[in-house]
Amino acid sequence: IIAHKVDSLLKKMTLEEKLGQMIIYPTKGNVTGPTGSIDNIEALIKEGKCGNLFGALNASEAHRLQKLAMENTRMKIPLLLGCDVIHGYKTIFPVNLGISASWDLEEIERFARVSAEEASSVGLHWTFSPMCDISRDPRWGRVSEGSGEDPYLGGLIAAAMVRGYQGDDLSKDNTILSCAKHFIAYGAAQAGRDYHTVDISERELRDTYLPPFKAAIDAGAATVMSAFNEYDGVPCTANSFLMRDLLRKEMGFKGFVVSDYTAVKELIAHGVAGNDEEAASLGMNAGVNMCMVDNLYLFHGEKLVKEGVVHEETVNELCAEILTMKYKLGLFDDPYRYGSEEKEKSTIFNDSNLLAAKELAKKSMVLLQNNNNVLPVKEGKKIALIGPFANHKREMLGSWVLAPEPKRTVTFLEGLEERYGKQNIYFAPGCRIHEEIPDGFKNAVAQAQKADVIFYTMGLSQKESGEAASMTSLKLPEVQMQLLEKLKSTGKPIVVLLVVARPIELEEVTEKVSSLLLTWNPGTMAGAALGEVVSGDYNPSGKLTLSFPLVTGQVPLYYNMKNTGRPMGLKSVSSEKYKSRYIDCPNEPLYPFGYGLSYTTFEYSDIQPSSVIAEEGDTLQFSVNVTNTGNVDGEEVVQLYIRDMKGSVTRPVKELKGFKKIMIKAGESRKVTFNLSPEDLSFTRKDMTWGQEKGEYKLWIGGDSNANLEASFTIK
Ligand code: IFM
Repeated sequence: IIAHKVDSLLKKMTLEEKLGQMIIYPTKGNVTGPTGSIDNIEALIKEGKCGNLFGALNASEAHRLQKLAMENTRMKIPLLLGCDVIHGYKTIFPVNLGISASWDLEEIERFARVSAEEASSVGLHWTFSPMCDISRDPRWGRVSEGSGEDPYLGGLIAAAMVRGYQGDDLSKDNTILSCAKHFIAYGAAQAGRDYHTVDISERELRDTYLPPFKAAIDAGAATVMSAFNEYDGVPCTANSFLMRDLLRKEMGFKGFVVSDYTAVKELIAHGVAGNDEEAASLGMNAGVNMCMVDNLYLFHGEKLVKEGVVHEETVNELCAEILTMKYKLGLFDDPYRYGSEEKEKSTIFNDSNLLAAKELAKKSMVLLQNNNNVLPVKEGKKIALIGPFANHKREMLGSWVLAPEPKRTVTFLEGLEERYGKQNIYFAPGCRIHEEIPDGFKNAVAQAQKADVIFYTMGLSQKESGEAASMTSLKLPEVQMQLLEKLKSTGKPIVVLLVVARPIELEEVTEKVSSLLLTWNPGTMAGAALGEVVSGDYNPSGKLTLSFPLVTGQVPLYYNMKNTGRPMGLKSVSSEKYKSRYIDCPNEPLYPFGYGLSYTTFEYSDIQPSSVIAEEGDTLQFSVNVTNTGNVDGEEVVQLYIRDMKGSVTRPVKELKGFKKIMIKAGESRKVTFNLSPEDLSFTRKDMTWGQEKGEYKLWIGGDSNANLEASFTIK
């Protein structure tokens, strides 16, 4: 029925009106028009030349803009209103890398649901999320926006987010379109420099970078964003192999593709288009439906069609896919159905949204070190809370928050005062993130001396992660390290609360402190979540999804690497030369993928079966016993890894193929069972077909990617 409606609508539209549906402008700010003039966006909307907008809005503004389109245009096609709702709209959840460290797919789906409810309550219909980019190079600032280094986990998280945003029915007024971005391999930018060249093999593309996109599209992702970078010498935005052959024909994607910000025009800088007009033709012919910000489709589309460079049929197809989504959202029935001031009031920051944000903030925190069980800190103790993040509302929210309301943030100071009582917390900022403050060190030390334990917040500014925030050195600011020395001289135990959105070098810090809790940028409920974690009301359960290097020179660094012909094996301490190793540093990270401690300990035993022979196409089942050997209840992320010992092409030394997050009571054991399907064993074989191969496999189950409880199986 929708196809029929779209068809008859298209027949009534002029070419210019169709092109107007294929562009998107920001809701705020100036954009340059075709002749270098400043475009009046509202005038374009009224003329039916701009069908889509993006940016943060409130309900009354969204209503006003929609009215402009509905009351002035000939065709009365509703606007599609998008926004980067990346880790929450108003109620902010931890940064996405932190969210992934929860390994909790239900909570992650709930986070996306809450984001959709808040965004739709103001009248937004579309988020540019999930970011599905696998990233293995923490020099790249955008590692903070993704789910880490692993394609399997990345796929499950992307699918959970799509389900959360879109629900099971796009026409419901609290669901929004998701956008799987950035298609593709944006995270493979050379040397971690944002927007830089990508040069990877098609096999690497398919086995490492594609799975999260495939999972998102299989879950129904309505839209895709083309990446800034090139693939195989052709920028993604002009790459018809990617947009037509791979995405649409092979993966069965039925939605529409939006370019990234000015990415169509950037085809000129890439050196594949000679001018704006050619850039527009490359984008359209490649199958990019919507052009973001530079809007070259509108400026040049008519001429391109007239000259036969772009067929009108192509414009019809591209426009139809956009209109289809507007129908699916129900906008043609009622363009104002999404937002309203009442809905906005009852949804934004409501109690259940705040609770969801607190839960995920708790679950995302990763306990990296806890010498002498300094954490948890029980009631009655005196805590010195020091550092530039301790009472900083905006820093708690992280990057990509387009409509921040920092005043709603519960800071670490507020959360700890609430949990332990004001009289037990001695606060001093000590320094700014990168600078000293007058008497800062002196006051911090004075506060520390009065306390039983020091909580020291260290980290990077939210501006030091996210887009265009590549770094060559992943170190903590010098001034914070100097203050650490001063605090250490008090002799009090130190707990570092780490506020970062990317892996950084931590070895020196670990030597100076008792405990290290990675809090990320925890979001609106930062302090409330922290209070529960450090007091032991909640036992930390987060596990890293991106390896933390010992030194920046090791990156890119990831657990599922290849063996090479001269492997070092694990724990590269040998001094043997002519091996794949550094002469000045071990190969291993400081903290590997999957790593994270708890206030209790878990012991793994008895994988069953320990060895098995199966046939191609069989699903294999393995179980393991996990015992909570400590004194408190705790959640554990039980992880299963495999290695294909010999393939038609080289295979990773370990690959995550299953995990379960389970609660185990103190002293109890649980049997955890996993199924390994033929799909789990499949990869891009030598002849580029997807499938499994016969042969010997190893399997490990444990609490991180160093898991060493081993079994084996053979596929004959
Ligand atoms: O969605 C983003 C994208 O991730 C990076 N460039 C800008 C887009 C729109 O804000």
